[in-house]
Amino acid sequence: MGPLGQFADLGYGYFYFPKLEGDISNRMYFRGKPVLVWSLNNYLGLANHPEVRKADTEASEKYGLAYPMGARMMSGQTDAHLQLERELAAFEHKESAYLLNYGYMGMVSIIDSLLDRHDVVVYDSESHACILDGLRLHIGKRFVYSHNNMERFEAQLKHARKAADLSGGGILVITEGVFGMPGDLGNLKEMLQLKEKYGFRLLVDDAHGFGTMGKTGAGTSEEQGVMDEVDVYFGTFAKSMAGIGAFVASEKPIIKALTFNMRSQIFAKSLPMPMVVGSLKRLELIRTHPELREKLWTIVNALQKGLREKGFNIGNTQSPVTPVFLNGGPGEATQIIADLRENYGIFCSMVIYPVVPKGVIMLRLIPTAAHTLEDVAETIQAFTEVKIKLGEGKYSTGGIPGAMADKF
Ligand SMILES: Cc1ncc(COP(=O)(O)O)c(C=O)c1O
Repeated sequence: MGPLGQFADLGYGYFYFPKLEGDISNRMYFRGKPVLVWSLNNYLGLANHPEVRKADTEASEKYGLAYPMGARMMSGQTDAHLQLERELAAFEHKESAYLLNYGYMGMVSIIDSLLDRHDVVVYDSESHACILDGLRLHIGKRFVYSHNNMERFEAQLKHARKAADLSGGGILVITEGVFGMPGDLGNLKEMLQLKEKYGFRLLVDDAHGFGTMGKTGAGTSEEQGVMDEVDVYFGTFAKSMAGIGAFVASEKPIIKALTFNMRSQIFAKSLPMPMVVGSLKRLELIRTHPELREKLWTIVNALQKGLREKGFNIGNTQSPVTPVFLNGGPGEATQIIADLRENYGIFCSMVIYPVVPKGVIMLRLIPTAAHTLEDVAETIQAFTEVKIKLGEGKYSTGGIPGAMADKF
């Protein structure tokens, strides 16, 4: 059953596959009860923005969900797809961009297409599954460095340089812009200072940074002033854009090569029209409504400052992603989550071993522009009470609240 599936019978429908119902917003319903939701990557609150809903509806009425049929290369090309690519490229200050029908599959194929057996990869140990799965396809050498550790990064670059000199290949460095679990940033600026010395290209997965970071929302590379130096920029529509799909942006020859080699795009259906037209609207809102990002950061700052003031360990986050680290095992974690949901009406996600070390519980909060300062105050109060109960051992007796499975 694997590490997640082994608990399927205990957690299905509650800890796994919970149903959040009602309109996507700060307040939704879980098992019929209202909850304050902190687990959606709806960073800018676009999921239910009236202009987004209107654009999605009008495009669905006009085109239906089927159009265009087939893969881009064969029969799935449209003007709207090309326009969205031009606008994304301009937004990211890149020459060219290409749409991806899922970020995950896209990233696997970006890595697969950029590399051949002679090339060498250097990557962060906490990389997202899509990066790791892309690397599974790579038969050349790879070197991993411990998360965001710049000494280890340079040490691995030295090995990579030697390996690439022997094989005659190039070096590709891969990092996330915003690391989706701990919320810290890839040190793009520092990494790029080594670019000339070791000769590499940098691919940044900025799934969580696109729309949230930087002066215009162009992402972590904008935040760190290195948009031009990042060779390949990847963003998804699944988070700030509150949609589905993704894109990759880079120099023209690289995008051309990707367009003709990414197997997950060549052999899969093009993004449906409502998603493309809807994404054009979302991008326009990101560009023209900086107040959405300002509101997001007001909530982020209030939440993170408030938690720190109450003595919570929220790690090194520099992004909206807000992890709250507590001490305890899986039994305690599940009871805390159940207490928060049932008695405080707060819905957040938990992360336990093996994603975090044994004995550590990570509650992950995603603030958005749809939240209010009252939501923040309510949550900090609830977390403070939960922390006291945890310290008093109130969660250490009951084990996992079972009998929640309704499927298996
Ligand atoms: C860092 C990172 N990369 C890639 C993805 C995949 O994006 P998508 O949901 O568009 O497949 C995600 C989303 O979970 C992510 O967090």
